[in-house]
Amino acid sequence: MVVLGIESSCDETAAAVVENGRKVLSSVVATQIALHRPYGGVVPEIASRSHVEKIGGVIREAVAEAFGGNGDAECDPSWWNNIDAIAVTFGPGLASSLMVGLSAAKGLALSLGKPLIGINHIEAHLHSVFLDPFAPDPRSLGRCLGLAVSGGHSSWVDMPEFGKYSIIGQTLDDAAGEAFDKAAKLLGLGYPGGPIIDRVARTALRRDAVKFPRGRPKEGTPALGGLRAELCVSFSGLKTALMYHLRNHPPSDDREKAEIVAAYQEAIVGALADRTITALHSRRYEALVVGGGVSLNSRLRERLSEVAAAARVPFLAALPQYCGDNAAMVAGLAGMGVGVTGDAAMRLDVMPSLEAGDIVA
Ligand code: KG4
Ligand code: ZN
Repeated sequence: MVVLGIESSCDETAAAVVENGRKVLSSVVATQIALHRPYGGVVPEIASRSHVEKIGGVIREAVAEAFGGNGDAECDPSWWNNIDAIAVTFGPGLASSLMVGLSAAKGLALSLGKPLIGINHIEAHLHSVFLDPFAPDPRSLGRCLGLAVSGGHSSWVDMPEFGKYSIIGQTLDDAAGEAFDKAAKLLGLGYPGGPIIDRVARTALRRDAVKFPRGRPKEGTPALGGLRAELCVSFSGLKTALMYHLRNHPPSDDREKAEIVAAYQEAIVGALADRTITALHSRRYEALVVGGGVSLNSRLRERLSEVAAAARVPFLAALPQYCGDNAAMVAGLAGMGVGVTGDAAMRLDVMPSLEAGDIVA
């Protein structure tokens, strides 16, 4: 089955063609980072306007690259016949951004007479790992623990079998990527902060120069909503701690600044690794599966691979080009038979607060 996937949940306009869930024939991502940089964060109005401008060209480029071998080629009308279905992210994300992709996908499905498949963005991030041809077939794995970490989400997901998801832990406030981005803003390092913090932290001589809180929510906190506190994180206090530290002990040079950055990164990575250890101990898992933009972080990869090795499970992380938002993960998951289909798909509205495992009919 050949699926054309469309993704527009935040600030990347993306389209991709994927065969049988894992073989990526093309993947085009138009990022809006430069548009949002002056504001130090994603501005929803600017994001949705840019999606409208870009989406047609991005879809045509993905189809041309998949079937013409050249993304610049004019789309031959016969190439659309090679596509069996159109998949699209309908949540979670920014409503006005999601709407652009969903409307484009519905229009394409109707005009081409192809089925539409609605995809959950977090579940797609967890599928991105399997776009690596060297990864095992997800259907051959038993129960997996998923960790989706990005600018909008930080969730631990129990996957008892392929295509089944249930959240067992999450952040109660900021996502890990948001915690990186806000810190970089406070430190005047630029946007987006995650990759810059990763780079600066690597230059530090030590990671323990500052003691930052490890984001442990108290048992009984109402925001837990029934989840176990030991499987949840809270990053908002960490950002406040950084703010006070910078006010009380401003770094005198780049070396000191790098040490603050490394300690801050260590607090985020430590919190994510710690909850992952607890989750891996809570059940028998066959693999640790990690996706999302923050999974590019070199220190997080190092720590999680240690955590997985100690628990004797394979550590599966996505190829770098599929960590951030992309449409190959959307087309891939749909091609494996996961997603909202039939009339329900054509009736879908955007769901900005969708969570992994939410049943949508
Ligand atoms: O998955 P993604 O592209 O978009 C969302 O769904 O949010 O993730 C973007 C986030 C940003 O917050 C960015 O700072 C973070 O991923 N990020 C990183 C790294 N590369 C990207 N965070 C830490 N270390 C990195 N190397
Ligand atoms: Zn994402």
